[in-house]
Amino acid sequence: MASIHVTRRLTDAAHARLAELDHEVTGGTLDEPPDRATLLDAVQGAAAIVSTVTERIDAEVLAAAGRGLQVVANVAVGLDNVDLEAARAAGVTVTNTPDVLTDATADVAFGLIIDACRRLSEGDRFLRAGTPWIWGPRFFLGRPVAGSTLGIVGYGRIGQAVARRARGFDMEILATGGRYLAQHGDADGVATVELDELLDRADVVSLHCPLTDATRGLIGVDELERMKATAVLVNTARGPVVDEDALVQALRNGSIAAAGLDVYRDEPALHPGLTYLDNVVLAPHVGSADVPTRDAMGVLAVDNVAAVLAGEPPLTPVR
Ligand code: GLV
Repeated sequence: MASIHVTRRLTDAAHARLAELDHEVTGGTLDEPPDRATLLDAVQGAAAIVSTVTERIDAEVLAAAGRGLQVVANVAVGLDNVDLEAARAAGVTVTNTPDVLTDATADVAFGLIIDACRRLSEGDRFLRAGTPWIWGPRFFLGRPVAGSTLGIVGYGRIGQAVARRARGFDMEILATGGRYLAQHGDADGVATVELDELLDRADVVSLHCPLTDATRGLIGVDELERMKATAVLVNTARGPVVDEDALVQALRNGSIAAAGLDVYRDEPALHPGLTYLDNVVLAPHVGSADVPTRDAMGVLAVDNVAAVLAGEPPLTPVR
């Protein structure tokens, strides 16, 4: 019997799966992230850690767990909170939760696209403020979604799922990057372009790349300047992919029209400039937050732990 430490309270389905295992489970009760000292203390002696995006799993945490640690199962597809090098060096397997959250995240990306283009949240705030209004030919005009050009940065699973939605809106689709795109882009009706061309041509730029050293600050002053003044930027990937200071400036001075954000540089803190701007829709990192998706993510993480502890290959290892 091994010990599994769960950093946060997961959904009931995930805890039910944990209860079926013949292992001791610690943690799994916190609705807030543990502070660092609590985390370092709690992982001691664990053979498995089930972590979420709010915990930094680095060499210090791996060392605190000790030599018996076999697997870190991150309840997310993104892995920027896990030091993969340190895990490799420590011989610890890392797993994530791809696929099960693809549609949920693509739904939120598309929701932000429609909202930021058609100014729905802005209209909601406007009405709640009690502002006098009447329908008018020039009143609350937004930007069209149907028939416009979508630029997908990062054509992985979620980027592809956003493209599927965009096809239903008759959008022209451009995308950067990805092995899949090189092989299937044309078949999907997606034009492969470099980032600069995508920024020049897209009416909506939607980010779906992982956060890595190569993508940190990918969208900064120059990239925002390249975008059309009528364009909309949507980020459901990771906050630091966008230079938030530059974004606030671009939204303020009209060098882009609007943005829709689900992720932030210093989560949960928001850049103070963002909250004063009417041309940005802000969501609280809810990309994967629907009930079946969160159930599936938690269960997959637990199944990964069960496999590794049984000496079997994990279902979704990180390569
Ligand atoms: C959530 O943000 C994830 O990466 O799954």
